[in-house]
Amino acid sequence: MQIKIETTPVERLSVDALALICFEADENPPALLAAQNGWLQEILTSGEFSGKLYETAVLHRPQGVAAKRLVVIGGGKRATFRTVEARRVAGALVRTLKTKGVHSIALFLSGADEAMVAAVAEGAILGSWEADKYKSDPKKNDKRIDTFALSLNGGGTPELESALDQGRIVGEAQNLTRDLVNEPANKLVPADLVAAARSMASSYGLECEVLDTEAMTKLGMGALLGVAQGSSNPPFFIVLKYKPARATGSDHLALVGKGVTFDTGGLSIKPADGMEKMKYDMAGSAAVIGAMRAIAQLKPVIPVTGYIATVENMINGNAQRPGDIVTALSGKTIEVLNTDAEGRLILADALTYANRNGATHMVDAATLTGAIGIALGHYNIGAFTNNESFLAKFMAAARAAGEKTWQLPMDEEYKEYLKSAFADLPNIGGRHGGSITAAWFLREFADPTPWIHLDIAATAWLDDGKAWLSKGPSGVAVRSFVQLALDWTHAS
Ligand code: BES
Ligand code: ZN
Ligand code: ZN
Repeated sequence: MQIKIETTPVERLSVDALALICFEADENPPALLAAQNGWLQEILTSGEFSGKLYETAVLHRPQGVAAKRLVVIGGGKRATFRTVEARRVAGALVRTLKTKGVHSIALFLSGADEAMVAAVAEGAILGSWEADKYKSDPKKNDKRIDTFALSLNGGGTPELESALDQGRIVGEAQNLTRDLVNEPANKLVPADLVAAARSMASSYGLECEVLDTEAMTKLGMGALLGVAQGSSNPPFFIVLKYKPARATGSDHLALVGKGVTFDTGGLSIKPADGMEKMKYDMAGSAAVIGAMRAIAQLKPVIPVTGYIATVENMINGNAQRPGDIVTALSGKTIEVLNTDAEGRLILADALTYANRNGATHMVDAATLTGAIGIALGHYNIGAFTNNESFLAKFMAAARAAGEKTWQLPMDEEYKEYLKSAFADLPNIGGRHGGSITAAWFLREFADPTPWIHLDIAATAWLDDGKAWLSKGPSGVAVRSFVQLALDWTHAS
């Protein structure tokens, strides 16, 4: 989908649909709407349209404009219309109109600032994505929007043009993440994730290093290799490096991703019901790949390295057993009490590796625990940290990027849940505070480096589509990652 700022006067835009936002109980509806022979009044009184968020009504053959249709879309309450709403309105427009034979859209948004323009671009790009790669519907390519134009009632300044570019880049990065997460586990094994990372890196000028089983064995990544040994698809460790032309300080950000291409649970096997969804257990690593692509294009001042541990958690004759004791890269021994708590095992080695390779700040994203959905539902990423001021910085970036994030506690008391009789630590705690004990396990390998853990198990996959986003992979964490890197200005 092509996306642009349109400078032609709005009346002369020859598009399939010209869209205008109308708010609830709007005292100031767009003048173009008021000029349609009382149409707006009629749909308001009949109840066809009230201005509620994402509601739409379509008028064919409108008066005084070149567009084929005039579309009115609800913006909710005018006073609470911000970038979050604008992103979703743009997504909802694309999603509604693409099923109606519309191929070109212009959205009239008078007076939008840079943040608003970026959000609209992102939303439109995100709305254009569908989880239909493996559907053979011959008509699916007819249901695409080719161009999305923003009409701002005036020309696009260079600042607005670059905001549009940024929104497009971040939206496309998030869609790359969604493409990867959407792949079923027979089409994407760890080697395929390596190929995807390599091809992204070579297209966007990043360095990419890959460790294979032999290299990881030499290093001593026993925790990661223990998980991988039950699969005939070998594991890999991927390193993606972005180096700014001129680094302004000594900070070095690491983005760390869980890349379990399929999680059967291992011998502690998962129930059949719902197991098919465990193809999305690599969503953290896909978010790192997407974010690294946007970072390569947007060039923040801080060096950023992506670390991805990718394995398949399977059950062949060599599979890890409950009770096995493995030695992690850090030297700590781990008693594997439950083979389904595999994400933390591979991340333990990934965090140690990032720590040893110069990371001064680390953020990991992982579909780590079912318990995070019990605690927070599907609407917030769960965040954990060993450094409050780093988390405050991250939360500000996540808020600006429109990704809801909620901090969970990491009091020392919770560490008591992690006791092993035979090794330095077990890979599970008890029944209580499952997401917190998982985070404490990771922290044992992150300390003392400032670190944030994002549990995205309940936010990386949408079971139901939204007006603005298709069902399936959400691409969560990409926007926050990119925003965090872009906001990094200080030179410590
Ligand atoms: N991949 C799962 C977590 C998960 C659950 C992701 C649901 C997405 C949706 C993870 O590896 C896992 O199985 N965790 C266990 C931990 C338990 C054994 C302590 C869980 O959450 O049940
Ligand atoms: Zn698991
Ligand atoms: Zn898992």
